[in-house]
Amino acid sequence: MKLKIKFTLAATLLVVFILLGVSICLFLAERRHLINQIKENQINLVDGLVQVSKEYSITKDQILLINYINFLMRNKNIVYVLFTNSQGKILAHTNIQRLEEKDKTPIGLRATKIKKLLIQSYQNKKGERISDYALPVFMENKKLGVARIGFSQRELNKMMEETVTQTGKRIFVIAFVVLIIGIFSALILAQTLIEPIKKLVYGAKMIGRGKLNTIIEVNNKDELGSLAEEFNLMACQLKELDHMKQDFVSSVSHELRSPLTSIMMYIDLFFKGATGELTKKQIDFLTIMKDSSKRLNNFINDLLDVAKMERGKMEIIKQLVDIKAILRETIQLYVVQSDKKSIQIISKITENLPMIMVDSDKIRQVFNNLLSNAIKFTPENGIITVEIKNTRGYLQFSVSDTGMGIPPDDLEKIFNKFEQVKGVKSKIGGSKGTGLGLTIVKSIIKLHEGNIWVESALGKGSIFYFTLPNKK
Ligand SMILES: Nc1ncnc2c1ncn2[C@@H]1O[C@H](COP(=O)(O)OP(=O)(O)OP(=O)(O)O)[C@@H](O)[C@H]1O
Ligand SMILES: [Mg+2]
Repeated sequence: MKLKIKFTLAATLLVVFILLGVSICLFLAERRHLINQIKENQINLVDGLVQVSKEYSITKDQILLINYINFLMRNKNIVYVLFTNSQGKILAHTNIQRLEEKDKTPIGLRATKIKKLLIQSYQNKKGERISDYALPVFMENKKLGVARIGFSQRELNKMMEETVTQTGKRIFVIAFVVLIIGIFSALILAQTLIEPIKKLVYGAKMIGRGKLNTIIEVNNKDELGSLAEEFNLMACQLKELDHMKQDFVSSVSHELRSPLTSIMMYIDLFFKGATGELTKKQIDFLTIMKDSSKRLNNFINDLLDVAKMERGKMEIIKQLVDIKAILRETIQLYVVQSDKKSIQIISKITENLPMIMVDSDKIRQVFNNLLSNAIKFTPENGIITVEIKNTRGYLQFSVSDTGMGIPPDDLEKIFNKFEQVKGVKSKIGGSKGTGLGLTIVKSIIKLHEGNIWVESALGKGSIFYFTLPNKK
């Protein structure tokens, strides 16, 4: 799972947990507040009844009391309203039949004795749960009676449920909006954190591929910023070390070149008979010395080429050349070598190819390496086909062989310095090479604004393609 998804999921989970906690707390607080409000309302209604009952006691105006009771009965939660005198005799009741009657129910008896608010809960004959609110009516310290209202618990519960559901819905909508905002914020935060990490990964990849001048730009002022700074410092130091190494290799190569040239010159003098006639054994030993010196010379030249190339100092001098002639001459150089392995070289070069602007020496180097590779990595009785196609704007060259092929994982790597397919050295006879050839070939083709790539099937063969601009 990607880091961005992991981070977003973790942040979203955190938001969900926080929201859940806050929502539950809010819901409970809202519920408690609602219960208190209902209770307060009920007390206010009984208090109102107390005031009206007081007035009734002074004025004996029954209409006032009846009107107020009727007004109260409009409230669906109220089951009954009554006012008793201090002996418990009912002076006003929603049920007229009970007027003048003495309330002898345990609830009524208890209510008659009260000095302050008394809330009693009971089940009536119909099985309904009732909350009875009783408040004494006092005038100048004299108890006139008791005002009582019975509230239906079922209706109250219904009302509370409705209000609580409404509140729940409101909280849900708010929580949902907050969750969406939370997810978006988590995504943005993840993006800002992941972006520098991505740059660091890319930088490490580039350094791993040998691009030591990679510098990553991270403007964060946090730990990631410091990491990027350290990374850039490390890249600079690596580049410096690489320069030092290149300098060392170049100077050693130069120093080796002159003694090697004189060794090769003296070997040639031996062959020319400067020291008299050579015996068969001497000729064999000198041939080995000549071949080894040639290989060493080629290696030194390759090292110097790579050093130049890496410093961007490899130059090409373009001239108008007949490319097919160059290719034919190069093929000619490999006839002896291919014959030794009974390898057939087929050349599919059409006559009507245009002259193109290239550095002929460098292009010869390209053909040399591709042909020598093809011969080196193709077993006896194989076939090598060389072809040039004139496509739009480009000449496309291909060198195919029926050799051992290249594993898919190595197809890109073989163009890197010193990269050789593992385990191949033991299978081929003769010179093993150093793995610099294709690196040099690639940079020569790039300097000519062309492209190079390879297609291969293990055990069946490989085709190396490269293009050169078809312009004069
Ligand atoms: N035609 C081919 N068939 C199979 N493998 C190849 C072929 N050409 C190149 N390779 C693989 O790519 C590697 C790199 O080739 P490259 O030409 O760079 O080096 P080299 O031939 O080993 O040595 P050098 O060219 O420096 O003498 C080879 O060692 C080989 O493993
Ligand atoms: Mg090679």
